[in-house]
Amino acid sequence: MAKVTEHDVGPADAFAEDTITAVTVDDRELVIVRQDGRVYAMPDRCTHAKKPLHDGELDVPGKITCIHHGATFDLETGAPTMPALKKLQLFDAAIRDGRVVVTLQEA
Ligand code: FES
Repeated sequence: MAKVTEHDVGPADAFAEDTITAVTVDDRELVIVRQDGRVYAMPDRCTHAKKPLHDGELDVPGKITCIHHGATFDLETGAPTMPALKKLQLFDAAIRDGRVVVTLQEA
């Protein structure tokens, strides 16, 4: 059965609007994106050539852009655009009592 763990990754104020922040949770490298008051969590790895996403851009609303070859990923669904073909895995992330909480699932 999948193990579900919640992780407090810091105060919501530490994640400014329209920023991408690298965090390490349980030895996993993730990025936290804050946009439109919401938070999103995903691996710090583009599904195209496994380059990091923490140096990406948020120029397209609702998407994170990998600067290495220009793939974008939908922040709600992880859906990719070329040259990436594989969806980006998304983790549950929420602001709770002023803190950013990420939920990870392990098989
Ligand atoms: S590694 Fe991200 S688009 Fe190529």
